[in-house]
Amino acid sequence: ADVFTYDPGFTSTASCESEITFIDGDKGELWYRGYPIEQLAAESHYLEVCYLLLYGELPNADELEKFENLVTRHTMVHEQMNNFFRGFRRDAHPMATMVGVVGAMSAFYHDSTDISDPHQREVAAIRLIAKLPTIAAMAYKYSIGQPFVYPQNDLDYASNFLNMCFSVPAEKYEIKPELSRAMDRIFTLHADHEQNASTSTVRLAGSSGANPFACIAAGIACLWGPAHGGANQAALEMLQEIGSVDQIPEYIKRAKDKDDPFRLMGFGHRVYKNFDPRAKVMKESADEVLDLLGIENNETLKVAKELERIALEDDFFIEKKLYPNVDFYSGIILSAMGFPTAMFTPIFALSRTVGWIAQWKEMIADPQNKIGRPRQLYVGSDKRDYVPVDSR
Ligand code: CMC
Repeated sequence: ADVFTYDPGFTSTASCESEITFIDGDKGELWYRGYPIEQLAAESHYLEVCYLLLYGELPNADELEKFENLVTRHTMVHEQMNNFFRGFRRDAHPMATMVGVVGAMSAFYHDSTDISDPHQREVAAIRLIAKLPTIAAMAYKYSIGQPFVYPQNDLDYASNFLNMCFSVPAEKYEIKPELSRAMDRIFTLHADHEQNASTSTVRLAGSSGANPFACIAAGIACLWGPAHGGANQAALEMLQEIGSVDQIPEYIKRAKDKDDPFRLMGFGHRVYKNFDPRAKVMKESADEVLDLLGIENNETLKVAKELERIALEDDFFIEKKLYPNVDFYSGIILSAMGFPTAMFTPIFALSRTVGWIAQWKEMIADPQNKIGRPRQLYVGSDKRDYVPVDSR
């Protein structure tokens, strides 16, 4: 019989070769196409990072302008898609709506089904990057019963998203450049992360030759789980549940208890065993945003700071190498900006879309690409004969 390597959770199996993103989990390093995330977060911006992830090099001024124009021209979604949103329950989680709506894009953009055409692959990538913020904002507006806000092409990518989320016909939303910058940085820090669960899902779905919009919908579904992208919502809700600093020891005790399934959400990472470099940048950003908005004595924030302090000093967390991850701090920023927790994971999803589609494009263009087909170790029953129901 065939012998297979058994690697539950794929902790030691490389599923592909990739030139896009590099992580050194021991050193706490993350590079996009060779550029350290810290430099990109400080000096670049999201659409430039999108170009870098998709095409491998930083654009020159002309290339960047063309790319930004192209994305901007694709931000509107088909008007008929409004009806699609309206089919969902009002109280649907925006991630549930997004899985459905992004999957439905495969029905609106039939031409993308021909993935053998490099031009069509390119168009699909641009449409996804351009339309995901619109779709995420529509999912939000629908969930709170407010009218959809159309994209505005004179706004930058991050400001446009904030405007689509917070503007109402009765009152113009005042765009604070510092908040747009912080939003853009959140997008940048989440843009790609090599072969994580959702990206592997997109690659596996895509390996069969499926429509790219359907593949991204599969990625969104995977991202939703609390062990992955859903951790940002879970982390903030945990902070709110803890409620006050004096409750923290109780939760730390639970996190350490082997018989208690409770985990500190926003802590730990499969690959980073030193620190999460994204969390470092995000923490600085969180301080800036809270400062700007004049939020100092917020109880959730106090709990977050104290929890972070205890976890970084406690032997259990040090031994298990459990550091605050990117999701721990992003939730604090998003909440200060006025987003409800249900919008945290949709924001992760729209940011990660470029990574998913860059990885998908890399895979499709790779001549070695073949359908992903993991094997198993069968541990079920031996061969046996069927027994008719009246003899059982
Ligand atoms: N709180 C308490 N204990 C933990 C935690 C935590 N957050 N994370 C891991 N542990 C313990 C775990 O119980 C296990 O202990 P033992 O060795 O005694 O059985 C040990 O640490 C190793 O955990 P694991 O589950 O085997 O590690 P993993 O690599 O499979 O899981 C993880 C990584 C991120 C899923 C996990 O740390 C976790 O569930 N964290 C909370 C959820 C979270 O914040 N996820 C976001 C990750 S970053 C962004 C993203 O991927 O989207």
